[in-house]
Amino acid sequence: MVSDASAGDRISADDIRRRKGGVPIVCLTAYTYPIARMLDPHVDLLLVGDSVAMVLHGHATTLGASLEMMIAHGQAVMRGSAKACVVVDMPAGSYETSAGQAVASARRIVEETGCQAVKLEGGVDMAAQIAAIVADGIPVMGHIGLLPQSVEKEGGYKIKGRTEDNIAALLRDAEAVEKAGAFSVVIEGTMEAVASRLTRHIAIPTIGIGASGECDGQILVIDDMIGMTVDRVPKFVKEYANLRGTISVAAARYASEVRSRAFPGPDHVFGEDTE
Ligand code: KIV
Repeated sequence: MVSDASAGDRISADDIRRRKGGVPIVCLTAYTYPIARMLDPHVDLLLVGDSVAMVLHGHATTLGASLEMMIAHGQAVMRGSAKACVVVDMPAGSYETSAGQAVASARRIVEETGCQAVKLEGGVDMAAQIAAIVADGIPVMGHIGLLPQSVEKEGGYKIKGRTEDNIAALLRDAEAVEKAGAFSVVIEGTMEAVASRLTRHIAIPTIGIGASGECDGQILVIDDMIGMTVDRVPKFVKEYANLRGTISVAAARYASEVRSRAFPGPDHVFGEDTE
């Protein structure tokens, strides 16, 4: 198990559960040690999302994530944080087959990272897995609505909650996740009115992404939030910085100074007068 960057009480999954209907829960994804250090003072929850496969590793979908990849990034985020509740995503293929498989994978994630909870995608169809992991003593965050691990099967990123049948299915999913014992649930990519209805319908906090301002909390992918995303920026993202631009300007300046021999200058080399 990884030890924290500094001692101190972490926010627990139960603390998050008690925030239902209160001050909105601030969540972001994090995949690395430096980003975890920078975000930890500001957030309640850090999600080591399987979006890491796309964002940092360049895969086309989150199906590129493996258990080993999630554990390595989970360890880095635990080392870099001391306060936030850290949740690690269970990658596709690590939990769907059976409750036994789900418990074994969740145990491995928690034992090898020391994280507070795991997250998995699915509602009614994954209730047995959620219940088994919770019964094993590991807190679970659910994830319903648009499920990134299913986009290939579904033929793309499709917003949910557009038909009465689908709304009824989402309500059943939210109820199943709550009844199975999840401490909170991510609602992704649904019609706004549906996400706020789901939030009123269940007693555990809902964490929205492309969902509703009425959810109990919000999450964004960190690279989207800081303007690092190089491909299409989704509609639901608000960029709070433009690091793409900053990095590009810095790289161009560096390249120009190396080519002109302006860098390294006298301040960046060791001469007789330096120790
Ligand atoms: O993997 C991820 O980043 C996620 C969030 C989008 C909720 O699941």
